[in-house]
Amino acid sequence: MLIGLPTEIKDRERRVALDPNAVAAAVRADHRVVVQSGAGDGAGFFDAEYEKVGAEIVDDAADAWAADLVVKVKEPQPGEYDFFRDDLTLFTYLHLAAEPELARALADAGVTAYAYETLTEGGKLPLLAPMSEIAGRVAPIAGATFLAAHRGGSGVLIGGAAGVPQARVVVVGLGAAGGLAARGAKGLDAVVIGVDVDLARLGEAAHDGDVTTTVASNERAVGEAVEDADMVIGAALVPGARAPLVVTQEHVASMRPGSVIVDLAIDQGGCIETARPTTLSEPTYVEHDIVHYCVTNVPGQYPRTASRALSAAVTPRLMALLSDPDSPKLEGALNVRGGELTHEAVAEALG
Ligand SMILES: NC(=O)c1ccc[n+]([C@@H]2O[C@H](COP(=O)([O-])OP(=O)(O)OC[C@H]3O[C@@H](n4cnc5c(N)ncnc54)[C@H](O)[C@@H]3O)[C@@H](O)[C@H]2O)c1
Repeated sequence: MLIGLPTEIKDRERRVALDPNAVAAAVRADHRVVVQSGAGDGAGFFDAEYEKVGAEIVDDAADAWAADLVVKVKEPQPGEYDFFRDDLTLFTYLHLAAEPELARALADAGVTAYAYETLTEGGKLPLLAPMSEIAGRVAPIAGATFLAAHRGGSGVLIGGAAGVPQARVVVVGLGAAGGLAARGAKGLDAVVIGVDVDLARLGEAAHDGDVTTTVASNERAVGEAVEDADMVIGAALVPGARAPLVVTQEHVASMRPGSVIVDLAIDQGGCIETARPTTLSEPTYVEHDIVHYCVTNVPGQYPRTASRALSAAVTPRLMALLSDPDSPKLEGALNVRGGELTHEAVAEALG
């Protein structure tokens, strides 16, 4: 098969889906790989390294998109829809529940599209997890940065000081992203309140010392926790579906001015009612006097770590896809084929 690796074009996105090790594995299995020149530059993987392992370097995006199978990081941007065609297979993050126009464009063109974020293995999401871990680790750092007064925040230092209480951080959804966000905030000495519908998960996080206390997710209890929070991190997910709405407009309005919201779940529509997508170039906006950080590609700012982590997770599934498109190793990944949405939760989310 001919595999294409185009350069990512989303705002300040510097990740690449396959590192030279992954390309070497595909070439060893007798596939051809075309890499758009510069695709790996942002992550420190230069053309020469790809060439050394047997890739062909092409100058134009169109040449990488002309491959049988295109492997990417982010969902295709509108400028890339022109490359869609009915004999194209796409393997990337899609987040279609929050991207109806992309879903329509893929279906209309007859693309066969597999999404990283819905691929399941033993009830887990192994292609979402590496990026969720990174986004989770970034969340409390980004949130703490925007609590600084000169960035519009309340001026509360997350770890407090002798005689001054530390900040209170509410983390909604303690999965791969939220679990590490809680752990990071706890490591910065915040008081961390973990919220989840999964009581076993709450118990585990408390046992591991990643949270100070836990709250079962329901509207009233979340409202009480959020009212008193300096930072709220949203990371609730129902795979494939639009993110569950956990923190309401009223909850946000009850927070102290200058407090910070980080909604990681924004790529699935957001689990905080006032959240709307932002970019790495303009990461925040203020609503109800609360600073909102809702960047849809948080790991894109740490491309070296993120590309290596993504590539390591994608490679075995890519090899499965190359040998058998219906492989059980791709369970749940197929989102669009033959003009139809094939993933139930995605189809339901899009009506
Ligand atoms: N913005 C970014 O750059 C970025 C990067 C990576 C991941 N993400 C997103 O982060 C989100 C979380 O991903 P994940 O891998 O941690 O998912 P996960 O499945 O590991 O965890 C989600 C958690 O949410 C919990 N949950 C579900 N419904 C809930 C509710 N009503 N109230 C409270 N908790 C609830 C689940 O029980 C689970 O523990 C996803 O939307 C993912 O796409 C965003």
